[in-house]
Amino acid sequence: MQYGYFDDERREYVITRPDTPLPWINYLGCEAYFGIISNTAGGYSFYRDARLRRLTRYRYNNAPYDLGGRYIYLRDADSGKFWSPSWQPTRHELQNYECRHGMGYSIIGAEYNGIEARTRYFVPLGENLEIWQLTITNRRTAPAKLSAFSVVEFCLWDAQDDATNFQRNFNIGQVEIEDRVIYHKTEYRERRDHFAYFACSEKTLGFDTQREAFLGPYRGWDNPKAVECGNLSDSVANGWAPIGSHQVSVELAPGESKQIVFVLGYHENPRDQKFDPQGSQVINKRTVKPVIAKYLKPESADRAFDKLKAYWESVLNICRVDTPDVHTNRMVNVWNAYQCMATFNMSRSASFYESGIGRGLGFRDSNQDLLGFVQMVPARARERIIDLASTQLPSGGAYHQYQPLTKRGNNDVGSNFNDDPHWLIIGVAAYLKETGDWSILDEPVPYDNQPGSETALFEHLQRSFQYTLDRLGPHGLPLIGRADWNDCLNLNCFSDTPGQSFQTTTNKEGKIAESVFIAGLFVLAGRELAEIASRRGLKSECERYLNEVQQMDQTVRKYGWDGEWFIRAYDDFGNKVGSKECKEGKIFIESQGFCSLAGIGLEDGLAQKSMDSVRKYLATDHGIVLQQPAYSQYYLHLGEISSYPPGYKENAGIFCHNNPWVIIAETRLGNGDAAFDYYSRINPSARESISDLHRCEPYVYAQMIAGKDAPTHGEAKNSWLTGTAAWNYYAITQWILGIRVDHDGLRVAPVVPGSWRGFTATRKFRGVTYHIEVIREGTGNHVELIVDGRPVEGDLIPVPPEGTTDVHVKAMLRAAKTAVRS
Ligand code: BGC
Ligand code: NOJ
Repeated sequence: MQYGYFDDERREYVITRPDTPLPWINYLGCEAYFGIISNTAGGYSFYRDARLRRLTRYRYNNAPYDLGGRYIYLRDADSGKFWSPSWQPTRHELQNYECRHGMGYSIIGAEYNGIEARTRYFVPLGENLEIWQLTITNRRTAPAKLSAFSVVEFCLWDAQDDATNFQRNFNIGQVEIEDRVIYHKTEYRERRDHFAYFACSEKTLGFDTQREAFLGPYRGWDNPKAVECGNLSDSVANGWAPIGSHQVSVELAPGESKQIVFVLGYHENPRDQKFDPQGSQVINKRTVKPVIAKYLKPESADRAFDKLKAYWESVLNICRVDTPDVHTNRMVNVWNAYQCMATFNMSRSASFYESGIGRGLGFRDSNQDLLGFVQMVPARARERIIDLASTQLPSGGAYHQYQPLTKRGNNDVGSNFNDDPHWLIIGVAAYLKETGDWSILDEPVPYDNQPGSETALFEHLQRSFQYTLDRLGPHGLPLIGRADWNDCLNLNCFSDTPGQSFQTTTNKEGKIAESVFIAGLFVLAGRELAEIASRRGLKSECERYLNEVQQMDQTVRKYGWDGEWFIRAYDDFGNKVGSKECKEGKIFIESQGFCSLAGIGLEDGLAQKSMDSVRKYLATDHGIVLQQPAYSQYYLHLGEISSYPPGYKENAGIFCHNNPWVIIAETRLGNGDAAFDYYSRINPSARESISDLHRCEPYVYAQMIAGKDAPTHGEAKNSWLTGTAAWNYYAITQWILGIRVDHDGLRVAPVVPGSWRGFTATRKFRGVTYHIEVIREGTGNHVELIVDGRPVEGDLIPVPPEGTTDVHVKAMLRAAKTAVRS
């Protein structure tokens, strides 16, 4: 069953009923000011850091599930009836309800009793504010006399503190109201130089800034006293819970429409110019007033919206494909790319499953996110790489996360994840291949943000690689540390205390447990580093890296191969994890996917065998599960992985993030049908028709789909902020469709299903637009290129002469022996 449909033309997902199985959300903003908005206008806004600069309050895990947002109430003056055109919070039965989630905007509204009301929410480029454009139309045959009420609840900035420190917080809330603009200025009197504001384009009948005055005692958002009575009371918040609400009178003749604009924003003042007049306690509004005045004008709002549309048009035009599969087309051309922007911006901090207070930007996560983002805005990718590398430790190790506001690393969510450093190499290699900007490697970058510690970025990569060589275990495999990519495989944790965090507790020194996954990652990262070193003229370095890679490849074959698949790890007792010798957890996806995609065993059949085992033991109709058999009990020596009930999350859930590793490995083996089949199983658009089972948004990937051991097999959770976005984008565009960026140029090496007659694509790459037509002329993957009319050997398009803007490429797929892809 579906709850809406894709409007591919407008790049929107249109939700046609408000009671989606879960809130289906969108992101507003793509630079510094952000918001999350659900299909019933729930959600919140923040400036840069979802924890430290939260503008509006949101209560997670509420009942009903999604409450608190950017709400509008309409009230009929004659009957006294009131409702919300976004359904929540009043939940009246509406006609023609529609939520259109688009690229950086959402339009939500409906009709009720002949009154149509729709609000367009978006964040203009370059501004720290959001615009709500509410259009009310009278579809009745009689005139309508209405009141419109807006409301937001302010957060007292630090969302963590806001949700816990009530003994203080109930005393500090402060607002100012000037020219009908509501200013939220809690803590501005002391150490904050920033405030929020909420303004309305119309002459207002009144305002409220005190929550209890608006709601009335013991009432909720579904039934506010002030709306029921039809009057706001001009309340001024002192302590308790500051809100912002305006009331506007709207009189409409039949057929008449009216637009009201609300602007919610964030503003900073220089420390020495906070007050006006100086010495008073009144906010200096000189620089903010013009901004507010500008965007309250509907024409300026429309212009800002057009600019946002144009921005997305240009970003999404970088890679466009037209394949025989509609789900592929809309994910590649619109939604998967869009999700890659969201994961780049948010890392894993703020979604409807990430509360914004738990996690900042992850070292591992943000580096992987680059794989799906770098082509969109390379300059931002560059800046992110430098920020990440600046938090790296002198040992080559990494803080696991940093807060975007301070850009300083911290260990709040754990440390010593021994895979972390390698992802920097992967991220930088992706950047270099996309941009050819080798100057980044000479950029001086500090360690742990310590001034004076700077080295060239290239040395950071060298230290990343060395980090593993300094930490090899008894078999010569990399020591796992706290965990590797799988945060829940905690082989040194041994936690027996309830509530203890598996992510921050270690009880063993960690000199025994080893990871075959990190070995695969080391091989991949090592090859990238060797390539980079060789191109920098460092021949002996390059050879050294390749020797180490070769050595690791051998070690994996010797100690990491189980006969039919790659072992996952060795535990603290030196026993195998992910082996036929194990009672549970005999085979894991990570080592199959990553070792194979890294190239281990591609030539001699090991990788193919590993893929056969994946198909036999791990593949389900809903995707590939993480391991089998699921752990049926808690194992002290394995940690969090066995804390989950079977079929969920890391305990045999379908962890969508690592499905594309298998997909890429299948393409490297030349298996286009298998690769595309796996791709389609977790493609959210392809799952739209089972939305009542899948439950999450059909336009973005979720981190996890419940595995075959779960009672809810096929149910997705944790949508949006997951490495799944980048990896799937990378897998489909660069490996299945095979339009792959490389240091020397663009490759065209598709490994597509046998049934595809071909496809077309345009790819902007280093200033040139490539128009690509792939034509199947035989059953295999052998490629013959014709570039601007001339045949070219191999699958690499030669770099065109300076000044070339367009290149036309024909790629013929022929039935020659399948080549192993580089
Ligand atoms: C989750 C992991 C996640 C980790 C991060 C665990 O509880 O299962 O998916 O990576 O927390 O802190
Ligand atoms: C989610 C985390 O963000 C990611 O870093 C990790 O690799 C996966 N979970 C698997 O545990």
